[in-house]
Amino acid sequence: NLMLSWQRTAFHFQPENNWMNDPNGPLYYKGWYHLFYQYNPDGAVWGNITWGHAVSKDLIHWLYLPLAMIPDQWYDINGVWTGSATQLPDGSIVVLYTGSTDKMVQVQNLAYPADPSDPLLLRWAKYPGNPVIIPPPGIGSLDFRDPTTAWFTPDGKWRLTVGSKFHKTGISLVYQTTNFTTYDLVDGVLHAVPGTGMWECVDFFPVSTTDENGLDTSVNGPGVKHVLKASLDDTKEDYYALGTYYVENDTWIPDNPVADVGIGMIYDYGNFYASKTFYDQSKQRRVLWGWIGETDSENADIEKGWASVQSIPRVVTFDHKTRSNILQWPVKETESLRLSSDEFDKVEVPAGSVVPLNVSTATQLDIIAEFVVDNASLEGTGTIEADGGYDCSTSGGAAGRGALGPFGLLVLADKSLAEQTPVYFYIAKDIDGHLKTFFCADESRSSLANDVGKHVYGSLVPVLDGEKLTMRLLVDHSIVESFAQGGRTVITSRVYPTEAIYGAARVFLFNNATGASVTASLKIWQMNSAFIHPYSNEQEM
Ligand code: FRU
Repeated sequence: NLMLSWQRTAFHFQPENNWMNDPNGPLYYKGWYHLFYQYNPDGAVWGNITWGHAVSKDLIHWLYLPLAMIPDQWYDINGVWTGSATQLPDGSIVVLYTGSTDKMVQVQNLAYPADPSDPLLLRWAKYPGNPVIIPPPGIGSLDFRDPTTAWFTPDGKWRLTVGSKFHKTGISLVYQTTNFTTYDLVDGVLHAVPGTGMWECVDFFPVSTTDENGLDTSVNGPGVKHVLKASLDDTKEDYYALGTYYVENDTWIPDNPVADVGIGMIYDYGNFYASKTFYDQSKQRRVLWGWIGETDSENADIEKGWASVQSIPRVVTFDHKTRSNILQWPVKETESLRLSSDEFDKVEVPAGSVVPLNVSTATQLDIIAEFVVDNASLEGTGTIEADGGYDCSTSGGAAGRGALGPFGLLVLADKSLAEQTPVYFYIAKDIDGHLKTFFCADESRSSLANDVGKHVYGSLVPVLDGEKLTMRLLVDHSIVESFAQGGRTVITSRVYPTEAIYGAARVFLFNNATGASVTASLKIWQMNSAFIHPYSNEQEM
């Protein structure tokens, strides 16, 4: 089936076949990036969860390795679930992961490389004294999972956090340890947010408010804020907030309590979940991975024989301009896949128009685009109706017309536009004449198939005085990862075109505003396919 095989991505990480979910234990060791992932070796649906394993020299080209860990002990026989790696000061590695026991209890287990001299870390040993942490009194046995990377504190102890819930309040429990085999539960919680439900895959890490580089997980002090992220089981979104970590009592306080974890900012407003960062000591950066799931039917996944991809790894930094959000940007190495490019300078896109862009093929692209709205339209008053309450997901998508939007790109579109995935800005004006900019992606016409998810995603994007509107899109067959204003707002779409595939896929500019003329400048690169293959011993590494 050509349509199904076209959906496989060319430069996103995905296993050769079968089901994948969360990224696990990413790390850099002896010259190799390691990615582990929740993997079902027996089928294209969730179950029988193991740790799949792959290595890379550059986070783009990958070699599949044998499974790192399988469910073979009473304490993980129902699944080797999500976990994280910690590198100790002597360079050694410990992994903590959740096991689903023979009685389906969620416990935390310790594992480590069986041969630390092997840069590929092919063999893993489970600590014979597992489990090392069991659910504490008052915590449900099904609500206790996904330990973080540990951080070292001035009292000479390591800390880590495990997500949970208490009634409907999402919480992160803190444990301390000196040896990774015995742990004490710390009084109180790192943080709790009422009404947010179970916190999965908590991530907790410092960002520098003074420099561009990433910070190792234990760094704290002046010029540091801490990101707390929780993956909400109830809504399947990765929420985060910036705040301060008080090591004296192991609490984290958000900068802005009304935009707390679970009610404020989301890493990626599209299809992106259960993400995890790691500190890349070779390039002094913090890199984020997230799971992009399917929104087609389980039968379709079984038919195509695989499900899910990982996002392009993204560098995470503090936004030094807004000072209120993080930035996410594809790792620099992504650009090594760029081939030939086409440039389009100051293309006029009048209100109510669609402008085709002449690129040779349009299924593997890296697009950078800048939009300028003419001043007269922005400053216009009177006739414009206030639409300050705009919301991407309830707006009717790219077809809904306002005075100053939507305008942007149509990707994975066929010639007739029967299929199209619009990614766009929408400028809304509130009653006082203040402008607010939204960044949205509309899947509602992405496929003629009707058994696939079609959402309109998006959110506000901060735009500072004098800034142009910019977006970057990575188009890879059935995935569109979109970054606005340097990565302030991000949206990943998983789409299933049936017509706009192979040579029939095209790119257009569009402007569906009623009262704004827009000029667009773009650079569009064809993207090479990444080398993602099984490792063989004969291979020259
Ligand atoms: C998140 C999650 C984790 C769990 C794992 C199981 O997607 O549910 O909480 O550890 O997946 O595969």
